[in-house]
Amino acid sequence: MKGNFLVFEGIDGCGKTTQINQLTNWLPNSGLMPEGAMLHLTREPGGTALGNALRELLLNTPKEMSPEPLTELLLYAADRAQHVSAVILPALNKGDWVISDRFSGSTLSYQGYGRKLNLDLIKQLELIATQGIVPDITFWFDLPVQESITRRKKRVSDRIEAEGDIFLNRVAQGFATVARERNWTRIQADLNKEIVTKKLQETVIEYCLKQKK
Ligand code: TMP
Repeated sequence: MKGNFLVFEGIDGCGKTTQINQLTNWLPNSGLMPEGAMLHLTREPGGTALGNALRELLLNTPKEMSPEPLTELLLYAADRAQHVSAVILPALNKGDWVISDRFSGSTLSYQGYGRKLNLDLIKQLELIATQGIVPDITFWFDLPVQESITRRKKRVSDRIEAEGDIFLNRVAQGFATVARERNWTRIQADLNKEIVTKKLQETVIEYCLKQKK
């Protein structure tokens, strides 16, 4: 893979979208990207046209159409397989950079720790759907669950967000475990926005400097 792959993970309401937009504006003029390389901003679920249809099925279905946990897992895996094959891999192979709002760490945390599905099965599916690609940097936005709930009070919840506090606590613990196992970059998400932006920029700069050595 010639390009760079940056991923943002964390519980709902952790503030990753704001910071993804900041990084997307900053990176092309940062001097870090090679001449001619493009930056692709994408997300899961929903980084492709098919993925957008799957996103609707996953998050905005009426109750009577709600997927069972295993079906939910397979739909997220299908979204990822399409996303990797049609968007992420072609971009990285060209030398472009990709920023993805969520990737396979979300499945381990939500479907593994949240839904309590078998972690080994999820890791096997991860390998199939990702074709083995691993992010260069994963930023984990670590936000207390209570703060996530407060921040989302005025928003309408999607099907996963509506699962409630106990589920969300399990997901948050899942993220903490996966972050430790996979050596993700922890971002303290309740800090002031400018401080978070700076930390992200410093991490990318440091990563690029290490690559050059
Ligand atoms: P978003 O609103 O941050 O784009 O995330 C969509 C929702 O889907 C969010 O509640 C997390 C959930 N999700 C999973 O449960 N498993 C996954 O693999 C992914 C990518 C997202």
